[in-house]
Amino acid sequence: MTQKIKHILSLRMLCLSLLIIFGDKAATSFAQELNITPLPMSVAMDSEGRQFELPRKFTVAMYGVSDPKVWADVDRFVRKLSFATGKKGTIERKEQGHFRMVQDKTLPAEGYVLIVSEKDVEVRFSSSAGCYYALQSFMKMLPPNVILGKEGEKKTDYLVPCITIQDQPRFGYRGFMLDVSRHFFTPDEIKRVLDIMSIYKMNRFHWHLTDDQGWRIEIKKYPKLTEVGSVSKDMLMNDEKQTKYWHGKPYGPYFYTQEDIRQIVQYAAERHIEIIPEVDMPGHMMAAMAAYPEFSCHPERTYEVWTQNLGLSVDILNVGNPNAVQFARDVVEELCQMFPGPEIHIGGDECPIMQWEKNPECDQLRKKLGLSSHRALQSWFIGEMAQVAALHGKGLFAWNESVTAQGADMTPLKENNVKVMCWVGAQPAARKATSQGLDVVITPIGPYYINRKQWNSPDEPYAAGPGNDSLSVTYNYIPVPHDISPDLSHRYIGVQATFWTEFVSSSHYMEYLMLPRLMAVAEAGWTQEAQKNFPDFVRRFNADIPLLDLGGYNYGKHYQYK
Ligand code: ACM
Repeated sequence: MTQKIKHILSLRMLCLSLLIIFGDKAATSFAQELNITPLPMSVAMDSEGRQFELPRKFTVAMYGVSDPKVWADVDRFVRKLSFATGKKGTIERKEQGHFRMVQDKTLPAEGYVLIVSEKDVEVRFSSSAGCYYALQSFMKMLPPNVILGKEGEKKTDYLVPCITIQDQPRFGYRGFMLDVSRHFFTPDEIKRVLDIMSIYKMNRFHWHLTDDQGWRIEIKKYPKLTEVGSVSKDMLMNDEKQTKYWHGKPYGPYFYTQEDIRQIVQYAAERHIEIIPEVDMPGHMMAAMAAYPEFSCHPERTYEVWTQNLGLSVDILNVGNPNAVQFARDVVEELCQMFPGPEIHIGGDECPIMQWEKNPECDQLRKKLGLSSHRALQSWFIGEMAQVAALHGKGLFAWNESVTAQGADMTPLKENNVKVMCWVGAQPAARKATSQGLDVVITPIGPYYINRKQWNSPDEPYAAGPGNDSLSVTYNYIPVPHDISPDLSHRYIGVQATFWTEFVSSSHYMEYLMLPRLMAVAEAGWTQEAQKNFPDFVRRFNADIPLLDLGGYNYGKHYQYK
């Protein structure tokens, strides 16, 4: 870099610091008009209201950027922006361009600085994720067809206000979970979910792939899991208009092939979303038991994939049978090969152990392991699965019963650094897990279970659970209580919106319940608590209605301005 450019850069950084230090008032008043959700950490706008106009031909200068992931992201950005606007962008290895990409290792991992002047746009980041989020923020300030990748009207002017944004997320884990077992969603419907998550800078898609009502992922070593386990005789359906009705014919086979998975993993990765696949074990396994009854506690019985959408099965995996445990290991092994992300999820929720208590093989194993309770067998099983994941360099998630069920043994969880997803009694569970040195993700039933009704009204379509949580309840939930000390608060690694589909059988209805509450959880994950502001959030949701409409998304209208 020449001396002159260094000088210009340092002047820029000085101006930026001054804007950040002295721009508080401007930032507050501008933030009220800025339509970026989640709200960025620091914003300073040009006091004279100047704007950058995307020229007919634009260049992106990538001088000194070596990370191939940044190159791939910027290439996608240029193609998307060119297609949507009808302008023509090119990437160059130069120092100067309409966009200047600058890798700056002093910035936090997912953080970025975006400096828009009349003349050009500077994007500073330390990682490809930061670069991606800067470009998402930039596109969010343009008409919504741009971020949606849709061709716009030819006569549109593509103007962005001159602005400096310095931004970074509060939490590293900003998740959404979707249950595709109770009802199945096609790869295209999953991609729509990933698209909307990426617009709101969410970075973990927890995919609940198996349950009593269907096994939805191809496992090559156990083909009956999908041949048998992905079809139920019938299925209770729900959509927005009819409360409930029977499908009246077999539901399925519905599952993702390994090729589908490969494509969806790639699609998510391009949006900086890691997929955390969940196979729920050792309970919630009726679909697997229907396929392989030999791994149940009663191999002599025949099982069916459940058609009813609620209830808890007492038929669970026989962890006292070495073949059943090997089956689980094999499944986890294939899962690790399919999903490149840092974690997988083994479920572990709602697992009644009555059958283990009466089963001689389970009793023998309990004695052999020197365990004081049958519940501790579940802890041992989770530890075993964590070890398979660890062989692939991956961590393991489990639902919070793994630490809160009576008789649970913390030792295998601690030895394997299992991460705990807190849903029932979420806060006490998180306190227990973090006090034992485990990391937690907060997804409380109620405010973050966004399949529940979003309004207390008889007009609302039937949704899971008798309760309801409005956008305001979801938004205002405090995931890390203020009395948690800093030596434990770092173990709260993030938040997650969770969506069960017992009562939701169409993508259109799922989106209605998901939005806009997903945006509220996205803001909890990204924006510092002191900066959150519900009326301003509602304003930004309203500002995004053209985007949601253009994307064809369905959403709750309860907070839409009349
Ligand atoms: C759960 O809601 N059963 C995790």
